[in-house]
Amino acid sequence: MRLDRFISKHTRSSQKAARQAIASGRVHIDGAAERNPTVTVGRFHTVTLDESVLQSRESHYLMLHKPAGYLSATRDPTHPTVLDLVDPALRPQLHIGGRLDRATSGLLILTNDGRWSRRLTEPREKHPKVYHVRTLQPITPETAVRFAEGIYFPYEGLTTSPAQLEQLGRCEARLTIYEGRYHQVKRMFVAVGNRVVALHRERMGEIQLDPSLAPGECRRLRHHEIASVG
Ligand code: URA
Repeated sequence: MRLDRFISKHTRSSQKAARQAIASGRVHIDGAAERNPTVTVGRFHTVTLDESVLQSRESHYLMLHKPAGYLSATRDPTHPTVLDLVDPALRPQLHIGGRLDRATSGLLILTNDGRWSRRLTEPREKHPKVYHVRTLQPITPETAVRFAEGIYFPYEGLTTSPAQLEQLGRCEARLTIYEGRYHQVKRMFVAVGNRVVALHRERMGEIQLDPSLAPGECRRLRHHEIASVG
């Protein structure tokens, strides 16, 4: 986006006022005064007007081992949220790429790069989400067949994408799905007459929960993990 439009949009001022601010040297890009109103602002440029940061170049990509009991929300009056577990300096910038229910544990991605997180979570991108599931009732052989066919969700009026179920025990399985609908895994099991009693996300796309992270710990993603989202 052109600098004058960028300034006007982020300060809710007219383009004329934005151009005046630029011409008077009050706008800096990556620390240097920029007086050309037509230069293009990229999404990872740092842009300041006087002392205000309008856009920060640094992008953050974190993986968190979410413990059960934490809400996938930025704030909540009652329950602890996943943001309570990350560096306070980063909290205001981060959003969650693919929420987990409060009782679900495992891989949670936090980032300030909205385009990147949309690519990771959008159903049409078909990035696998892999869950370890424990159920109340024994898992029947029919379950894998039904999940592979897709489960109809009447509320949304849609059928889930074919999912793969690998049975690990009588009441234990690894499930790979390609969307992240509301309570998707739980509702899929309800649809086949079963109930999820424990759910843990192991992987999103190529990003695997780091086994060295204890519940509640997080680390920055590595370059290859960020790049794997495309
Ligand atoms: N499906 C669920 O039902 N819950 C989650 O937290 C994630 C997927």
